[in-house]
Amino acid sequence: MSLWNATLARISSTLLSRDWTLARRMLGSGARCARLRKSNIFYSLPPTQVEHKKLYGPIWRSRFGPFDVVNVASPELISQVIRQEGRYPVRTELPHWKEYRDMRGQAYGLHVDTGPQWHRIRSVLNPKMLKLAEVSAYAPVIHQVVGDLLQRIESLRLRSQDHTTVPDLTAELYKFGFEGISSILFETRLGCLQEEIPKDTLKFIAAANNMLTLSETVLFLPLWTRNVLPFWKRFVQAWDDLVAVAQRLIDHKLAQMDAQVLAGKQVEGMYLTYLLSCDKLTLEEVYISITELLLGGVDTTSNTLSWALYQLARDAASQDRLYREIMSVCPGRQQPRSEDLSRMPYLKAVIKETLRMYPVVPGNGRLTVDNEVVGAVALLPVCLLLPIPLPQTQFHLCHYAASHDEGEFVDAECFRPERWLRGDPESYQHHPYSSIPFGVGVRACVGKRVAELEMYFALSRLMQHYEIQPEDGAPTTEPKTRTLLIPSKPINLRFLPRVILTRNPNRLRACVIVHTFICPATPNAITTRRLKYKNKL
Ligand code: HEM
Repeated sequence: MSLWNATLARISSTLLSRDWTLARRMLGSGARCARLRKSNIFYSLPPTQVEHKKLYGPIWRSRFGPFDVVNVASPELISQVIRQEGRYPVRTELPHWKEYRDMRGQAYGLHVDTGPQWHRIRSVLNPKMLKLAEVSAYAPVIHQVVGDLLQRIESLRLRSQDHTTVPDLTAELYKFGFEGISSILFETRLGCLQEEIPKDTLKFIAAANNMLTLSETVLFLPLWTRNVLPFWKRFVQAWDDLVAVAQRLIDHKLAQMDAQVLAGKQVEGMYLTYLLSCDKLTLEEVYISITELLLGGVDTTSNTLSWALYQLARDAASQDRLYREIMSVCPGRQQPRSEDLSRMPYLKAVIKETLRMYPVVPGNGRLTVDNEVVGAVALLPVCLLLPIPLPQTQFHLCHYAASHDEGEFVDAECFRPERWLRGDPESYQHHPYSSIPFGVGVRACVGKRVAELEMYFALSRLMQHYEIQPEDGAPTTEPKTRTLLIPSKPINLRFLPRVILTRNPNRLRACVIVHTFICPATPNAITTRRLKYKNKL
């Protein structure tokens, strides 16, 4: 047991024995034992999480206005909080979201609802989102969307000055994310990856961005500012737009279903049809749940894919290994099937490593109710030199700090997918809670399986078609937070068409060059690769 664990255990047992005087004395020497400090931020930004952890150790207290937060930044402490959460975990209170929904008479939905009410909605949404067999049914529609993405990338790169560079890749992947999740939820194609983007798509993208950006501002500003400053009005407008777009699409589906029933046909479909016909949610609940699923399903997958491509472009060896794996399972640009994925451990490792380095949700929350949790972590806030125990404690789980900890991941700032492969010399032992990008337990991400399927398919097919490189002399891109972790500046990458290889990846043999387009950059790229493969024969 480390010194820190031993100290926590000592404090904890002292508190359990209700020896308050001794407990205070122990916590009083804060720097040495509990290392709790007050700092002036509410939720730490990712780099700040790391700095604060260095300064204060794996647990510290932050204050922002009325908010009092206990930050935990080691996998052991994060697991303590999560493992002891009750049946109905609460992430954090979102009073401003709740206020908006009350104002518009809407249902609360997954993010605002709590207790059995949250659980009821979640159990309706879960089956067709989290069961592997159910999610595999979305494979054909995801492949259609990936096909559109490939076409879009091709047309963007050909249009660029050097005929290879796709500028601001994240923006394109955002459209892919939106099209992907909408095609699953609404069972219809919106055409987000077409030249002419539908107005509603643009509206939703802008509104999601505004809502996420304004959410923190609105939360921290005092109520009296609502009529003086523009933020609350903009926040409400953003939500109105989000819900309106989702509502229009749902109403359209409802009308289609009604028409089918009237025509005596059987109503068939996927996610939305299931939600609308299962009679377990009210229409208001369907509206808000679909809006939240859309909101959760766009930025997350698109940013993760952007970071994966950004890292692969800078790491030729990893990209090559990934390409070889994909070609060995799906030769000749075959579309991967869901069942092929179990034979692609490196593809999965690339996504895991990307989410370790860039957890799109860099910090999560858990609001624990007094007496719900026992143990060292739970008891710490009670005795943060406050005269009375707190009825509730807001924990901030600093996932970014945990997944960038050198103690858990050697060379934590380096992209090393190998570390996730079992039996690989590069793989290391790390705590199971050191990188949990989708969360763990009953409140974990409802879209995990769908997100993974989208990312695996998109990445594997992009790799089949292109070798990816950074722009010449491109500087590194740092992440920043806008509620979610996003690139701080546009990511531009070069897409060089690949040569198709024969079936056996160990005896690489360039056979056909499948370029229907000729551009100044590709012949060189082809020659280079051909030479490279020839040397390996
Ligand atoms: C790379 C992709 C994604 C990542 C890393 C991610 C991560 C997360 C995390 C960390 C949470 C909080 C879990 C917790 O509190 O324990 C969450 C919740 C959620 N996610 Fe995702 N997510 C992703 C994709 C998606 C997709 C595709 C959807 C929609 C289909 C989605 C919908 C949601 C929803 C609705 C919640 C709230 C669940 C609840 O409160 O019960 N996410 N996600």
